[in-house]
Amino acid sequence: MNLNLYLKEKRKLIDKFLENHISMKKKQEDCPDSLCEAMGYALMAGGKRVRSILSIAAYEAVGGKSDNILPVASSLELIHTYSLIHDDLPSMDNDDFRRNQPTTHKVFGEATAILAGDALLTDAFNIISETDASPKTLIKIIGELTYACGSGGLVGGQAADIFFEGKKAGEKDILYIHTHKTGALIRASVRAGALTGNASQAGLDALTEYGEKVGLAFQIIDDILDITGTKEEMGKSTGADNAKGKNTYPSIFGLKESRKIAEGLITDSLEAIKCFNKKAEPLAAIAGYILSRRN
Ligand code: IPE
Ligand code: IPE
Ligand code: MG
Ligand code: MG
Ligand code: MG
Repeated sequence: MNLNLYLKEKRKLIDKFLENHISMKKKQEDCPDSLCEAMGYALMAGGKRVRSILSIAAYEAVGGKSDNILPVASSLELIHTYSLIHDDLPSMDNDDFRRNQPTTHKVFGEATAILAGDALLTDAFNIISETDASPKTLIKIIGELTYACGSGGLVGGQAADIFFEGKKAGEKDILYIHTHKTGALIRASVRAGALTGNASQAGLDALTEYGEKVGLAFQIIDDILDITGTKEEMGKSTGADNAKGKNTYPSIFGLKESRKIAEGLITDSLEAIKCFNKKAEPLAAIAGYILSRRN
């Protein structure tokens, strides 16, 4: 398959959905201009849309065909963008650049940035409620995502990441941090796609395994890129997370071993989805992309 074409087509669908959402917000005039501006500024700055594309690919792997996945898929980008806005705040990672532009708090101020994050997270669930699915399926999707975003997921991981800043985390701690701050939402993206496509239990189990492996690999590669410098192009300074005393895979295992761990996870992720045969081609190609990406 042509992965570049696949990614391009899916990104276009997601970006169009998100663009419509922001322009509808502006037209409805129920959202103060500065808040709407800040939300659009962060959301439309050109993210890779990995989480939404994973949810679409999982949906397709279990037989889903329509655009009915788009509200769920797009909402993942609202959730992810909220997490980035808050992650960059001075009280968190204190970053000045994100997605090749000044961070949201740098442009709109801290209060508006916090509120833009709050609004994106909350609006995501409002968008999900538009999905054409049975009440039972919708509740499952919402349960899945709220768990992955909350104290037992992304927020828990971020709390541990901050707690261990400047301290030496053990192997168990770094695994917790990575599987929660980043892995949880990626795993849930895959599962939400599968749930929207009414996956069988066996299908959901296989995709869960895949989501866990690629989710952890994604953050390990993020840590590696932070050191090897490719993120500089994206307006991030080389080795920024290490310089902050963050616990990263390379800081604990070294670059070479970290790369090996990520490669092993990607091999395992491919093994997990073998049962889908040809239907899993996009998921397999995305796993390879997660390992080879340069930003
Ligand atoms: C960056 O995520 C933050 C992490 C969780 C590692 P992405 O690399 O997916 O960021 P965008 O959405 O493409 O900007
Ligand atoms: C981000 O992890 C995780 C979340 C936003 C939930 P990082 O702090 O490592 O991501 P970057 O390096 O700022 O993109
Ligand atoms: Mg962080
Ligand atoms: Mg950060
Ligand atoms: Mg990082």
